[in-house]
Amino acid sequence: MRRPLVAGNWKMYGNSASVKALLTSLKDLVWQPQVDIAVFPPTLFLIEAVQALKETPILTGAQNCAIEPDEMALTGEVSASQLVDVGCQFVLVGHSERRLLLGDTEAILIKKFQAAQSKGLKPILCLGETKEQREKNQTFTIIRDQLNSIIDSLGIDVFTNAVIAYEPVWAIGTGLTATPEQAQEVHCFIRALIAEKKEAIAQNIQILYGGSVKENNADALFTMPDIDGGLIGGASLNADEFGAIYRIAG
Ligand code: G3H
Repeated sequence: MRRPLVAGNWKMYGNSASVKALLTSLKDLVWQPQVDIAVFPPTLFLIEAVQALKETPILTGAQNCAIEPDEMALTGEVSASQLVDVGCQFVLVGHSERRLLLGDTEAILIKKFQAAQSKGLKPILCLGETKEQREKNQTFTIIRDQLNSIIDSLGIDVFTNAVIAYEPVWAIGTGLTATPEQAQEVHCFIRALIAEKKEAIAQNIQILYGGSVKENNADALFTMPDIDGGLIGGASLNADEFGAIYRIAG
């Protein structure tokens, strides 16, 4: 049985006061022993989050890492080894905002994925089609290409220690959620693609859904057989709502 994971991506939201308040509230969440939980604060607040949450089951991840794993002259970047050093366990790789707005190409994502794993960070690889691609019936081609880009370069075994998040771009921050059936169809497709290479990895890997997950739609999504939790954006900035989604995953 796969454990569900509820992950909160805070994106570029928050300031000193709001992050402190959110971390304080998260410390009071009632622990669900059967569910994994993690938060992804802006880089500036990672150390504070790790410290604040160290007595809780909430793990911490970064939203991005550098293409090179160790220290070097790379202005503005943060390496996987630095993230591990301050206590991070996860890193997001290939979020659509990085693919579409910040120039993260497949070649860059392969390097980031590899850099993360080489230092013991678990990558959460984000996949997803745009609205235009869905309307042109290209969803499955896009998902296959994005997944194969990592498999072809790094091999299938890297997914023994990784998570996948399916995030249809048209559902991110729009309030338009994929229906549970639409999401399940893609999750099942992703798992089948992995199973073609290695069945055991396909059965064990957590595949999260992301895109306007809220307290009121989480249950229908999380009860789908191939949906193993969520990558939550907006709703993770409110400890009550994030906590409710976490409970629903239990
Ligand atoms: O990483 C999280 C996703 O982009 C989903 O964001 O829940 O605000 O739609 P959202």
